[in-house]
Amino acid sequence: MVPLEKSTRQSVLVLLWCALMMRPTSAAPLDAAPGVAHPASWPRSHSAGLLDPATESRVTDLMSRMSPEQKVGQIIQADIGHITAEELRRYPLGAVLAGGDSAPAAGADRSPRAWLALARALRAAAPIPILFGIDAVHGNNAVRGATIFPHNIGLGAAHDAALVERIGAATAQEMAVVGFDWAFAPALSVPQDLRWGRSYESYSQDPALVRRYAGAMVRGLQGAADSGHAVQSGHVAATAKHFVGDGGTRDGIDQGNSEASEPELIRVHAQGYLAAIDAGVMTVMASFSSWQGSKLHGNASLLNDVLKERLGFDGFVVGDWNGHGQIAGCTNTSCAAALMAGIDMFMAPDGWKELFDNTLAQLRAGNIPAARLDDAVRRILRVKVKLGLFDAARPWEGRADVLASNFHRALARDAARESLVLLKNAGALLPLRATARVLVAGDGADDIGRQCGGWTLGWQGGGHHNGDFPQGESIYAGLRTALAAGGGSAQLSTSGHYREKPEVAIVVFGERPYAEGAGDLRSIEYQPGERRDLELLLRLRAEHIPLVSVFLSGRPRAMDAEIDASDAFVAAWLPGSEGGAIADVLIGDARGAARHDFRGTLSFDWPASAAPPRSRFALGYGLSYAATP
Ligand code: BGC
Ligand code: BGC
Repeated sequence: MVPLEKSTRQSVLVLLWCALMMRPTSAAPLDAAPGVAHPASWPRSHSAGLLDPATESRVTDLMSRMSPEQKVGQIIQADIGHITAEELRRYPLGAVLAGGDSAPAAGADRSPRAWLALARALRAAAPIPILFGIDAVHGNNAVRGATIFPHNIGLGAAHDAALVERIGAATAQEMAVVGFDWAFAPALSVPQDLRWGRSYESYSQDPALVRRYAGAMVRGLQGAADSGHAVQSGHVAATAKHFVGDGGTRDGIDQGNSEASEPELIRVHAQGYLAAIDAGVMTVMASFSSWQGSKLHGNASLLNDVLKERLGFDGFVVGDWNGHGQIAGCTNTSCAAALMAGIDMFMAPDGWKELFDNTLAQLRAGNIPAARLDDAVRRILRVKVKLGLFDAARPWEGRADVLASNFHRALARDAARESLVLLKNAGALLPLRATARVLVAGDGADDIGRQCGGWTLGWQGGGHHNGDFPQGESIYAGLRTALAAGGGSAQLSTSGHYREKPEVAIVVFGERPYAEGAGDLRSIEYQPGERRDLELLLRLRAEHIPLVSVFLSGRPRAMDAEIDASDAFVAAWLPGSEGGAIADVLIGDARGAARHDFRGTLSFDWPASAAPPRSRFALGYGLSYAATP
């Protein structure tokens, strides 16, 4: 009996071993080299609407008539600050962009007329139709007088994909009006550390929400896949960015390194791309960041094998601002490695001319195979044909009435209203009666630029006057209007000094505008050194004035003391140009009945001040009037 038992045990072990060896692997093999992806462990997606026989034969025909110089030109994008129309005539570049600080005319004139004149001049010079790209990341935000929508973090709090799609469509129209064809949006980052200064460009820390919104924003900007030439119908090309893992960098450092495992990269950071590709997104931008020590711009396993092969992406991959120059062995003006890894178009804002010469030389020397160049050019021309760039008609161009139309402003106001999250409402202080005498304080109360944040009439935002937003309304202006209509009054004093004691104070304060790099934090604590805003809150509190805090910010900040000092606390994010939205929700009717309820809930955990890090309010939190007895 004993020997039999032993052999049974042995065969069970052998069977187990076989089963282990044969099990289908969904995770990366244990011997995985760092920074090398395993496409078979990724889910699949499929580019919608980009590949069809008619488009491909048109592209084939175009390419058969193109010189090597013209092909090399197609894979390079220059910034408008570094190229003239005359140069574009000689160097047939595939695209131009307007970087965050690039204006179309002298004196930082960002009027619609200046943008349109530039677009037309560049287009007239280019021998092959160019793509004109810009960071329209919360509306067409580099154009004076355009509608500025809430930044993505606020849209995340709204949990409304249909709203996001409508915003995409409105943004595309406001772009088409001034001659842009390509939005560097949406950002599909899934930030895991709020110290990252680009957190506000993201919808959520929740991959499922980012995925839901990705398809909606792509459809909004581009129109439905297969719906025909986008430009002729007031649409533009979208960009899913930054592929992939930009929100996962260690300590939230911009352009840093993500140490995520491959399953985590897929489960958290890649989710938005699946939906964006399924919705037909025309371009994907590579991330400045690294994955397991490998720069995305040079990572063939992620760009070629995962994105293009496994995920079936048929559009083109654009590099980020001189991102190719960060690959080991590359410079801003020479980088065959990026092309070989899967970048199809270099974003070479300033070094484009030398890059052109060097790339052409590398092609002639055989360092770049003609087939790789042809594939990149084919992808770019495919997008151009699909967009309708080869058809001269641009029915939306010049329709100035579309910019900040009543319809778009109402949409922005709805969005800002839906994005507000009520974190505290002690004693049901809110909504306020419209007959109330209100002190409006805080340095964010009457400052539209503060409401809009970074990527607004400039890269880092800030430094604006309310007059720079002829279409906009400050939060104070909105409160004043609502209170005046209801028989109450609004007294503005940013420092919180008053002549006549108010019945209640609304204090609007928060972060100052920032963007990439400058927005990174070492600590998530709000005003860790000198708590200036807290002083104001405590002073008003000491005077027994009921306090409503409206916090403007690109992310939650740890600020228990400020929340504790307030009777009511509203996270307003970066609501954009329609400051009146705040009054819609805070000010009720003459008897104090709400005119609009709060609908937003957190799309990120809100940290507590106490260490070790824990949440004061968890993802999904948000009060409403209806739920408060
Ligand atoms: C540009 C931005 C760009 C940044 C990159 C700025 O000068 O205006 O568009 O993103 O540089 O470093
Ligand atoms: C940013 C991108 C942006 C590009 C062009 C880069 O610095 O990372 O998000 O699209 O500049 O402005």
